[in-house]
Amino acid sequence: MLDQIHHELQSLKDNHLFRTRKLLSGRLGPNLSFNHQNYLSFSSNDYLGLSQNQSIQDALIEGIHLSGNGMGASHLISGHHEFHEAFENAFSEAIRFERALLFSSGYMANMGVISALVGKDDTIFSDKLNHASLNDASILSRAIHKRYRHHDLQHLEDLLQTSKSKVKLIVTDAVFSMDGDLANIPDLLRLCEMYDAYLYIDDAHGFGVLGKNGKGTLQYFYDQEKIKEPYSPRIIYMATLGKAAGIHGAVVASSNNLIEYFIQKSKQYIYTTAMPAFMAYGLKESLNQILKADQIRAHLNNLITQFRANVKFQKIALGSSLTAIQPLIVGSEINALRLNQWLMEKGIYVPAIRPPTVPHGTSRLRISFSALHQNKDVMTLMKNILAFESQSDAH
Ligand SMILES: Cc1ncc(COP(=O)(O)O)c(C=O)c1O
Repeated sequence: MLDQIHHELQSLKDNHLFRTRKLLSGRLGPNLSFNHQNYLSFSSNDYLGLSQNQSIQDALIEGIHLSGNGMGASHLISGHHEFHEAFENAFSEAIRFERALLFSSGYMANMGVISALVGKDDTIFSDKLNHASLNDASILSRAIHKRYRHHDLQHLEDLLQTSKSKVKLIVTDAVFSMDGDLANIPDLLRLCEMYDAYLYIDDAHGFGVLGKNGKGTLQYFYDQEKIKEPYSPRIIYMATLGKAAGIHGAVVASSNNLIEYFIQKSKQYIYTTAMPAFMAYGLKESLNQILKADQIRAHLNNLITQFRANVKFQKIALGSSLTAIQPLIVGSEINALRLNQWLMEKGIYVPAIRPPTVPHGTSRLRISFSALHQNKDVMTLMKNILAFESQSDAH
């Protein structure tokens, strides 16, 4: 085994797929300090800058004073605190679902809910570019797993038509994590109605950012009158809380009965120590901040518009995203690393994303904007990417 692992590590290095951790120090924000250097960073999912928000920090500290450091038990033993309950109630009320349930992370929520919902003989239909945690959840569930081409709803419909399973679950990122584009939720819902299927929506990158009051992707489509109401008994909605919400964890919202079922059946909910209550207390303040962050969202949208309006690349393909995730698709792993390195030398950090996170031949730099960025930061980034293009033309 050790020999094999040694060879695999070497092969990752030989193929430009080896990854390294950056050792951060100090506070986070648009400027990061790692490996003792400062970088202007476009790498975080802290879209609203709430990871640095003072009133959330005060709430977290107050929460510690009120409830202590950790829970010491799972929710069903003695770890369910009124702060968890208060957040769940506030969340479900805000996004107008019947009930909500906190999980320790988005990864755990995806695994826990999907594997509780479906099993052998059921079928999961998932977009090819779904997040890895959704694919792992499908494997764990032991359901039949059908993957449809990215956004190809005709392909999905063909698969639904030929499926013999009684229970059918369509699973999708709402905002695709490496591309920033949106799933066509209204049409997915229509297919659910037609084929008696259910829809699991992972809104890790939409909650806090999209829709009126940042209520997420369902609200966004509701605002545009493309869905009748955000809540539907066919939807299981998941939002992560370590991205725009600025802390950690995840929350799943659905009908009363489904949430009760997850409490009874989801192993990733039952067999793990509850999230510290102080975090739930901080998350409630984070939810308050999100709901009133219209100015912050306007600034974020302004940065995105500024970027998209001004960049005209020769060789690099800019994805069609209108969200805070803007992929610069360069193709090969080595080219992604070259651009990443070039920017690092100029004091800018944009992570290079390579297979298996993205398909072969689509390696990219994943720019993510945060409301903590200023317009001049966007200018600096653009200027340096354009300089990279012109120097690589010269060679
Ligand atoms: C689409 C998507 N789903 C789920 C997750 C996992 O969430 P968490 O980081 O809370 O585990 C992520 C990223 O981390 C993600 O991008």
